Amino acid sequence: MTDSLTVKDNRTGHEYELPLTDGTIRAADLSAIKAGDDDPGVATYDPGFTNTASCRSAITYIDGEKGILEYRGYPIEQLAEHSTFLEVAYLLIHGELPDKAQYETWEHEITYHTFVHENLKSFMQGFRYDAHPMGMLLASVGALSTFYPESRNIADPDNRHMQMVRLIAKMPTLGAWAFRHGQGKPYVYPDNELSYAGNFLAMLFKMSEHKFEADERLAKALEILFILHADHEQNCSTNAVRSVGSSQVDPYSATTAGIAALYGPLHGGANEAVLRMLRRIGSVDKVGDFITGVKNGDERLMGFGHRVYKNYDPRATIIKKACDDVFAVTGVNPLLEIAVELERIALEDEYFVERKLYPNVDFYSGLIYEALSFPPEMFTVLFAIPRTAGWLAQWRELVDDKDQKIARPKQIYTGERTLEFTPRDQRWS
Ligand code: CMC
Repeated sequence: MTDSLTVKDNRTGHEYELPLTDGTIRAADLSAIKAGDDDPGVATYDPGFTNTASCRSAITYIDGEKGILEYRGYPIEQLAEHSTFLEVAYLLIHGELPDKAQYETWEHEITYHTFVHENLKSFMQGFRYDAHPMGMLLASVGALSTFYPESRNIADPDNRHMQMVRLIAKMPTLGAWAFRHGQGKPYVYPDNELSYAGNFLAMLFKMSEHKFEADERLAKALEILFILHADHEQNCSTNAVRSVGSSQVDPYSATTAGIAALYGPLHGGANEAVLRMLRRIGSVDKVGDFITGVKNGDERLMGFGHRVYKNYDPRATIIKKACDDVFAVTGVNPLLEIAVELERIALEDEYFVERKLYPNVDFYSGLIYEALSFPPEMFTVLFAIPRTAGWLAQWRELVDDKDQKIARPKQIYTGERTLEFTPRDQRWS
């Protein structure tokens, strides 16, 4: 069997053989298919890249039909159970698990770069009292590029490494300060003796106590949530990082593009919509009526369904388990009962079974975040912090990929042509 496609152009009767590699054709090969000399050639039309591979990547593997998610070949379930977020960040970026010395160096580097320049603190303090924390994060990460102008030298691997360390280290600091800002509380400086998640919790919640020690179970649950959100191959924000990064801009600016994409409700905001939905349903006895409304097309069951997963999202299973640990400390979120009943009914109902609609990562994560005292505006910030590791792994892969070019899609022009311009005094008279 030859790995190729034979394509016949019915306009001309010509046949073309297009090589197939890894189940894909090169879109550029289609441009040889022309109806005439002044024809630019055939192209593909694919808004939202629903069936177009934009890169080769060895970072994250997803099999949506089977509900499999792996980072660098390691199943997400094993990483969530046995690893730490910093180890996973190392794995994503470097491609292999660290040995003891590598891990200790990495942990030390990240821990000691958590502080930010005092001028950046003043910059953040300049926001209005009600500024959205994700908007503050977006702007402050962009501002970081001005503090590290050498970051523009992306060809130097040591320099790249330093910027990646800085970004992973400073994200919790900026995220926590954006949170404190909204509460009118003083910003808390990092504590280098704490773990990544423990330090983040301290910067969020520390008040007058000399030392803030987070409950181990809560720090562990947050760590698991960070691991689950660390990467998810070519989603909207990762594509934004790669697209902006393809101009060879510094990694702070490329990461800012990822944060901006994540800010949008279709990407990072579904867990907030789940909480609103659960609150609206109000009690377990109303679940049946709600499901009927969904089936009639009046509502959407938020936190269900996924573009890629046509099975249980493996991250949802892990988060559901983490709920128990968190609620053991914080007390059960009363909305959990409604969520569990919704899931039970939906998984047995023909409408959802037929359409392969299962709980996704957002179905239970909002419940945990709420139990940890986060307001909904913080949910996307909590997503952006760990996803920075994935964005940077993808950015590093992009920079080293000889196949990559500056992102510049084609368009199908549908507007007017060669109109005659009429000056304002004639048009308006
Ligand atoms: N509730 C009810 N019906 C649904 C739902 C839902 N949540 N999701 C899909 N459907 C139905 C949809 O109406 C359609 O039915 P029909 O064939 O009769 O028209 C069918 O299932 C296929 O849906 P689709 O809209 O073509 O699927 P999609 O792949 O374009 O959409 C989705 C995926 C995630 C946008 C969608 O499932 C959805 O809106 N879910 C709720 C929002 C949500 O939870 N989003 C978070 C996604 S996970 C985020 C991440 O991984 O970062």
